[in-house]
Amino acid sequence: MAQRVRKAVLPVAGLGTRFLPATKAMPKEMLTVVDRPLIQYAVEECLAAGIEEFIFVTGRNKGVLEDHFDSAYELEATLEQRRKAPELKQSQDATLKAGNAIFTRQQKPLGLGHAVWCARHWIGREPFAVLLPDELMISSPTCTAQLVAAHERTGGNVLAVMDVPREQTKSYGIVAIKNEKDGLAEMTGIVEKPKPEEAPSSLAWIGRSIVLPEVFDHLGKHETGAGGETQLTDSMAKMIGHSPFHALRYTGQRYDCGSRLGFLEANVAIALGRPDSGAETRALLNRLLKG
Ligand code: G1P
Repeated sequence: MAQRVRKAVLPVAGLGTRFLPATKAMPKEMLTVVDRPLIQYAVEECLAAGIEEFIFVTGRNKGVLEDHFDSAYELEATLEQRRKAPELKQSQDATLKAGNAIFTRQQKPLGLGHAVWCARHWIGREPFAVLLPDELMISSPTCTAQLVAAHERTGGNVLAVMDVPREQTKSYGIVAIKNEKDGLAEMTGIVEKPKPEEAPSSLAWIGRSIVLPEVFDHLGKHETGAGGETQLTDSMAKMIGHSPFHALRYTGQRYDCGSRLGFLEANVAIALGRPDSGAETRALLNRLLKG
């Protein structure tokens, strides 16, 4: 039987240079989509999948992430005094349980593989989720919940993948698959950022995965790959054939919040989709487009 997935690693050390000057003094993961920071979507996605322990791999200037998931005593006492129950709940809902969040620093920008390796002592020898919070996923069940379910069936590594235009393969880890059934396929390879003409397919890993702890044995060799960095996908590639490895086609909504347009799209689409802001946002957009 597959071991339960209890922990998630959230690599959040990136500089967010595409969002300067917004990210000069503020982590990009704190950029707001409608009314909550990007990082909170990833955390809520995990909680909905039964994952309650978080390892945030941070860097310098990321301290506010830790504050965000702490309880905010002064704020909450004031809200209570003023009988602002819904606002109080918003603040409390963004608090992680005591002892359930670890913040460790990636001291040098040596790549995603290195960032995940920094979490090794806190993971130990159990399967874990890796989520790249730049990618915002909206679906029910959540993308991570779908991966956890697939892991429970296969007992192995599972990556969420989606078709991308072939000219974009150089931005992603691209997978090779066989024997696809109901959206789940055996993975036969993964290549980091291949040129379109060299890509084994146009199926991209979209930054959601369940990984077995054996990945640390490979990451610990600190081999460099694309861009001179230690790539997580290179270590994954070495595990294929040694432990079960599957790709799951994700069919929900995905917003690439690492790009300005994707971030804007997420804001508009999520505001449109929410019962508390959908109608107003639609009216606003109609007004702006007519003007
Ligand atoms: C990273 C991974 C890549 C993955 C992508 C998803 O790339 O290295 O394999 O497909 O995230 O967003 P990055 O976007 O950090 O360059």
